[in-house]
Amino acid sequence: MPDSDPRQLELSPVQAAPFLPRPRLPGSVVVRESPDELVDAIAADLFFQSRACVRTFGDFHLALSGGRTPEPLYRRLMYDPNYRDLPWKRTHLWQVDERRVPPDDERRNFQMLRETIVDHSDIPREQVHAIDALTPDADTRYQTELRDVLGWREKGHDRLDCVILGVGADGHTASLFPRSPALHAEGRLVVINSGPAVTPPDRITMTFELINASRFIAVLVTGESKRDAVARIVARRDSVEELPILGVSPLAGELRWYLDRAACP
Ligand code: 6PG
Repeated sequence: MPDSDPRQLELSPVQAAPFLPRPRLPGSVVVRESPDELVDAIAADLFFQSRACVRTFGDFHLALSGGRTPEPLYRRLMYDPNYRDLPWKRTHLWQVDERRVPPDDERRNFQMLRETIVDHSDIPREQVHAIDALTPDADTRYQTELRDVLGWREKGHDRLDCVILGVGADGHTASLFPRSPALHAEGRLVVINSGPAVTPPDRITMTFELINASRFIAVLVTGESKRDAVARIVARRDSVEELPILGVSPLAGELRWYLDRAACP
């Protein structure tokens, strides 16, 4: 049995400045005035959690989203001396989702992950799990890879340690779009998502089943363009079908929202 449970996370204080709004979202909510201060808060949480997982399990499984919002976080992890001791050598890097376009297409999430993290850290290449998005059975292959690698862990601990998610203005997260087929992927960890409800191109995405089994889920939301989506999450009048981010609900892990003031309704 592990001697410490990294679910008892050493997380940053939720409210540093008492005058900021704190929307009533499921889980804990960190609000900071600016995106830059928010990056500090999430980077610190990630740092402590990664070290706790390495102490307990010997490794750290981190799943990262694409999109524009998390890019400053990924860069900060590389250049800020406070995070120099992030245990990249013991980290497995997974992709939350990927676009089904050729590897050198700039819409590929992995391009951004490579430019921000992979090329600048000492993470061993065999621990970088890129989605081979154009292979016809890319989803099944990635699911098998996840099962195989996480299978080295003790039963019950064979899950992702940290998943960083974003939210689209339409309420999607990962590549789980409103009214799209992947919302109903039962018994699957990873699926292809396509069809009229998916913003092109087609995607490969982690499912709710995999995301919700994680130890720690961090949802990063910045900017005014996301305010309406946050207001809809708070109101909880929509179904998961209409507002997929509502389907994020960890089974035994922790959910934490990171919002800048501009994203707060
Ligand atoms: C992606 C994502 C997606 C993203 C949201 C928010 O690859 O696009 O995984 O779920 O997090 O669309 O995107 P922005 O951060 O660009 O607003």
